[in-house]
Amino acid sequence: TTSIRTLYQRTSEVQPTNLTVAGWVRTVRDSKTFGFIEVNDGTFFKSLQIVFEDTLENFKEVAKLGVGAAIIVTGDLVMTPNQKQPFELKATQIVIEGECPPEYPLQKKRHSFEYLRQIAYLRPRTNTFGAVFRVRSLAAYAIHKFFQERSFVYAHTPLITASDCEGAGEMFRVTTLDPVHPPKTENGEVDFKEDFFGKMASLTVSGQLSAETFAMAFRDVYTFGPTFRAEKSNTPRHAAEFWMIEPEIAFADLEDDMRLAEDMVKFVINYVLENAKEEMAFFNQFVDKGILERLQGVASADFGRVTYTEAVQILEKCGKKFEYPVYWGCDLQTEHERYLTEEHFKKPVFVTNYPKEIKAFYMRMNEDGKTVAAMDLLVPGIGELIGGSQREERLEVLLERMAELGLKEEDYWWYLDLRRFGGTRHAGFGLGFERLIMYLTGMTNIRDVIPFPRTTGQAEF
Ligand code: 4AD
Ligand code: MG
Repeated sequence: TTSIRTLYQRTSEVQPTNLTVAGWVRTVRDSKTFGFIEVNDGTFFKSLQIVFEDTLENFKEVAKLGVGAAIIVTGDLVMTPNQKQPFELKATQIVIEGECPPEYPLQKKRHSFEYLRQIAYLRPRTNTFGAVFRVRSLAAYAIHKFFQERSFVYAHTPLITASDCEGAGEMFRVTTLDPVHPPKTENGEVDFKEDFFGKMASLTVSGQLSAETFAMAFRDVYTFGPTFRAEKSNTPRHAAEFWMIEPEIAFADLEDDMRLAEDMVKFVINYVLENAKEEMAFFNQFVDKGILERLQGVASADFGRVTYTEAVQILEKCGKKFEYPVYWGCDLQTEHERYLTEEHFKKPVFVTNYPKEIKAFYMRMNEDGKTVAAMDLLVPGIGELIGGSQREERLEVLLERMAELGLKEEDYWWYLDLRRFGGTRHAGFGLGFERLIMYLTGMTNIRDVIPFPRTTGQAEF
């Protein structure tokens, strides 16, 4: 069979007679002696128009085909330069592989995203989700391409872990203990020694700590895998299961880290603009008018830079009423982040040097003793896209910070060893893959850029 992608993109190479296409019916229109079928095979955003006539032996069955039916069509390609589509396939044979009854939940009309979420197993067949998930696939490839071309080593970090990287207490437990009657120690606590791993284990919230071990061997590494957070906040930007890209670079500081982040985001934007033209044109027309121009602008201009302290001053002076108050030391909320990137800078902006109290234990302490060498990348429409930092490589400073936070040395012994055995300056960041897809497509709910989203109360499909 010939893919519809080949027909559109390499038309001149296609042998036009007696070719076969296999796909699913998008629409059927018929009159007494002939009809048209729009067929889509998933290889290309656009569909192929099939023309069929009553010379087909199964003309009646074909004319009655429902939306969604699977068919295999053989015929001749006819150029139609004066019509909407550049060519059509004049069928000599149509084999019906799988019928589709009228109760098929996807019909030829606009369905709401809410409705489509309830039938997530069917939505990749629609224009919008076909485009979203192709962009998602291309963006994943672009990320690997970006790092591999720069000789970064792809590290597969564990999904089950006994370390809490972020210390935010949002971990899902992984246990083989009986949840109703767990074994107890003498003083009545759950006895995790009896558990599969011999201690309390969880799904990872970040691959960073393991990635740091690889950075101390390969210098430049990255992870790209699923991470899990028991996020109780029910927002359009948080999922319980999401994918994160986490590069980690040795002999590098926060400046190097930001440069890498900016280069990577621009690379992915350019790759998707170049390789998903039809999909991006669709988003530009139906989902987010102007997204093409915006992304092109982002890819060709410098990102903004501002320290946390300056950002707080901007927010205090802007005169806008925020739901959450702004003061030095406050954690920036989405409304603050979006003001900074959408209304003040009007482009992606790195916020750096946050107060240590609102950031994780591993971030490098600045000279002032109050802030850490952290950076968040904020982008219009999303807020935080990336969170990263230079890591604390000085053992004594790290130990002091862990003691302040009540973290036990024995839980991080191997992480601390990295500082003892040839430790060096290093930095890294985490990019939320779903948020990147939202940014690239203009989709506004994280549930609509994940094939089967996991959020509170949602683990179906
Ligand atoms: O800022 P975060 O929590 O940083 C880390 O986990 C670091 N260990 C990363 C590193 O330095 N290697 O998360 C990183 C990014 C966020 O900026 C956001 O884009 C995304 O992960 N993210 C989420 N995306 C979807 N749903 C959630 N619940 C998310 N939580 C974080
Ligand atoms: Mg963060």
